[in-house]
Amino acid sequence: MRTFVMVKPLGLQNFLLEVMAAVKAVGTVSRRQLVVVSRELIAAHYAEHAGKEFFARLLEYYQGQTVMALVVDGPDAVARVRAMLGPSDPRRAAPGQLRHLVMTRWRDGQSGWRALELATSGVDNIVHASDSAEAAEREIALWFGGKEE
Ligand code: CDP
Ligand code: MG
Repeated sequence: MRTFVMVKPLGLQNFLLEVMAAVKAVGTVSRRQLVVVSRELIAAHYAEHAGKEFFARLLEYYQGQTVMALVVDGPDAVARVRAMLGPSDPRRAAPGQLRHLVMTRWRDGQSGWRALELATSGVDNIVHASDSAEAAEREIALWFGGKEE
């Protein structure tokens, strides 16, 4: 089974070692690519959220940013990667879940990290991962152009 992972700007710039260690505990990284995000790409990626109050914020934040797209192969990869991320809101993530890393740095009282977290207003929670096998195939085709290497 495979899943799609997108390391968001906060994750790529601050937590890449932690993200890759967690991903490799789940499976093998079979594809990996840095992507400069266009408005069209992020709108297509988050199409299920079109019309919601935070959709415009997503497009505004991600367009022009560099992210890392990954395909992770392993047993039960979709559910296992989602479990290691934690909930969408990093404030609800448990210690050990990747999205909790935002909160750890905030609690440590390092003013720079706190400013970084507040500046993104929750729009960047370090990592995206597919929520179903169907979503994974759609997202892999979208981000990698559908052709296998
Ligand atoms: O990423 P996940 O599937 O956990 O969450 P989602 O509900 O599908 O939302 C997609 C993404 O939109 C989140 O990961 C956040 O980056 C962003 N979001 C936001 O900025 N504000 C919200 N109220 C909800 C989501
Ligand atoms: Mg989602």
